[in-house]
Amino acid sequence: MDADTFLGRYDESKRLMSEGRRYLAAGVSSNARLTGKRPPLFFERGRGSELVDADGNRYLDFVMGMGPMILGHRPEAIETAIIDSFEIGQVFGGQSRLEAQLAEKIVQLVPCAELVRFTNTGTEADLLAVRLARAFTRRSKIIKFDGHYHGWADGLAVSIKPPFEQQESGNSVQPHPESLGMPPSTYEDLIVLPWNDLDAVEACLTSHGGDIAGVIMEPVMCNNGVITPLPGFLEKVRELCTGCGALLIFDEVITGFRLAPGGAQAKFGVTPDLAIFGKALAAGFPLGCVAGRAEVMDTLAHGVLHGGTYSGNVTGLCVGLATLYQTCSRGGKGLKDLEDRGNKLAERIAESLRRHGITAQIQGYGAHFGLFFVPSELRVRSYRDLRFADRDAGDEFVARLVDAGVRSTSRASFFLSTAHTDSDIAEAADAIDVVLADMARQR
Ligand SMILES: Cc1ncc(COP(=O)(O)O)c(C=O)c1O
Repeated sequence: MDADTFLGRYDESKRLMSEGRRYLAAGVSSNARLTGKRPPLFFERGRGSELVDADGNRYLDFVMGMGPMILGHRPEAIETAIIDSFEIGQVFGGQSRLEAQLAEKIVQLVPCAELVRFTNTGTEADLLAVRLARAFTRRSKIIKFDGHYHGWADGLAVSIKPPFEQQESGNSVQPHPESLGMPPSTYEDLIVLPWNDLDAVEACLTSHGGDIAGVIMEPVMCNNGVITPLPGFLEKVRELCTGCGALLIFDEVITGFRLAPGGAQAKFGVTPDLAIFGKALAAGFPLGCVAGRAEVMDTLAHGVLHGGTYSGNVTGLCVGLATLYQTCSRGGKGLKDLEDRGNKLAERIAESLRRHGITAQIQGYGAHFGLFFVPSELRVRSYRDLRFADRDAGDEFVARLVDAGVRSTSRASFFLSTAHTDSDIAEAADAIDVVLADMARQR
């Protein structure tokens, strides 16, 4: 379809953006919303799997708030939990019984969880996990992987999308700060390695193992498109960490309570020392946590500081309890159904790609998967491989999908929710098929 067909379709969003910029720094509340090729859309309302924007356009939504809306938009069970929570209160500067209740649920579900500490966001939980690892091991170095995201704070916002020219294959590279205003002193103890590269991890842990407090990673890399762990990678890193006394930290902010009730660690059968959760833990409410081995978490009672006026606030906990009930009770049937529907959509997209002769690769799982427009012989294994990806094709795919009323993330990945129905999947797959046919025709 001609680009002119869509002239005027987003005028109200554009107008709101330019008006908002007069009062709101850069027009947004998170820089992540500026990453697409187009100005961000403004949304009026959502319900279930659908969103309506300020121009009245309807979308089948596969962004789902970048992951948290695991039950879709405005799920009834959550609205009820919120209203009920107002009967209790909000923040006491003291304890409520809900904290231990939700912590107990997490301990039952998550393999590594012996003790839990609540935060408001994933970023805070990442910072706490790293502090715990350093305090427990009395070491300072942390290994992270390029392309992985662990929040926007100084100590970790490094090498998330480093320029490809700075990448040296196989070896650690200079940590690349992702923001102005980050003094090198804040990340000088980070070592950045390529993910899915056992040799690089083994070499680093063999030579510096005694200095390494922890190895932090997304067990499935979800923040530059979706890249899955190579068979044996997680297991071997677990073994190497145990061998040198470094803690293995899984950042499950995206995978947690999404890939399985016990997260990626349960799906892959690899238990880290610490894990970080957020997003799908509380269906759209700010709630995060660190969960892990008792002796590590117990340092919070022996000299490790963590605070937060809103940590453990009543609404967050009530929503967390209601969310886990919906997704993880009945043996995780909610998540299993969502996984099946996502697999169906991924299969339909793969079929369309084949039929229209477009080479692209789909990676991930039903609950969250993504496309890379890369040469067919390449299996994307780490951030560095993305230098071979056709970014323009990816951007075009995402933009055309939005024009067709289907919303993927700006990195061409899809978040499923329990609100997506079989007919949503069929409708989305048909729309994607038309987009891919158009793209093939115009090439
Ligand atoms: C893997 C991962 N870790 C941490 C974070 C940060 O979480 P939050 O945005 O709640 O601070 C995110 C957010 O997208 C994430 O994807």
